Amino acid sequence: MQRKKVFITRKIPQAGVALLEKSCDVMINPEDRPLSREELLAKVAEVDGVIGLLTDKIDAAFFDAAKNLKGYANYAVGYDNIDVAEATRRKIPVSNTPDVLTLATAELAWALIFAVARRVVETDAVMRSGTWTGWGPLQFIGLDVSGKTLGILGAGRIGAAVARMAQGFGMPLIYYNRSSNPELEAQTKARKVSFDELLAQSDFISIHAPLTPETRHLFNRESFSRMKRTAVLVNTGRGPIIKEDDLVWALRNGVIAGAGLDVYEFEPRMAEGLSELKNAVLLPHIGSATNSSRDGMAELAARNLLAMLASARPPTILNPEVLG
Ligand code: DGY
Repeated sequence: MQRKKVFITRKIPQAGVALLEKSCDVMINPEDRPLSREELLAKVAEVDGVIGLLTDKIDAAFFDAAKNLKGYANYAVGYDNIDVAEATRRKIPVSNTPDVLTLATAELAWALIFAVARRVVETDAVMRSGTWTGWGPLQFIGLDVSGKTLGILGAGRIGAAVARMAQGFGMPLIYYNRSSNPELEAQTKARKVSFDELLAQSDFISIHAPLTPETRHLFNRESFSRMKRTAVLVNTGRGPIIKEDDLVWALRNGVIAGAGLDVYEFEPRMAEGLSELKNAVLLPHIGSATNSSRDGMAELAARNLLAMLASARPPTILNPEVLG
């Protein structure tokens, strides 16, 4: 049988590449940077399958360019970069990488919660600057976490994992989600609430909803104004769920107490003024950046693509209706 041609839009862990190389000719973008739109469209012209990233736009023009395409596997759990309806219309299977990064991302949400609450980054900078004069009763007072109310936006896999971890800190849990999550409620006594209630009652809010037209800019001036002034907002989901200029306004004016961000509205850029704020902890989209998660994502993306190329059922297909 003729070997299928596969293109990977950026270097990924070898675990996934090795799986593909057993039966496919694999080409990989040799440079460790996202391809420009023109480069991407040119590279996919002759290939049967593509593994791409959240920075690659997979839309009608992409499918037009990739005229031999039998499947597209996203190297990410989030798939707002894919026009799934368009793929489905063309009967092209597309997939994502759930589960393998759930705990890593949930752990990073906790890292941000604690980093903001206890001013970890700000006070680390004080030590490095050599300006600390010794212990003082009024220095660097932060926020308590244990016993405070945690609000989860989006009670899918990652949101539920963050909620389960919160039990160790005795935190009452509330969540806002389109549908109820009875399993989460049974495990953690989490209570489903309206968005208004989530804003009004949470001491910490952690964002885990997908980016959709409904969630874009859900956090804006108006919603910040309905949060507690002592509240902290953490985002390890997708940047555009927060209107970032409005967040700068809220942090600067004490409308909320702090924010921990791993994702940004216009990555890799940040809103003006954000980097000057001591009550913000800012990370470069590293939610899934552990060895086991990234290897798991590579293997799962490869297994999805191999199934697509064999007209079999991909383990985590997003549009199963295209399967015959
Ligand atoms: C995802 O998978 O969607 C993350 O944002 C990157 O790991």
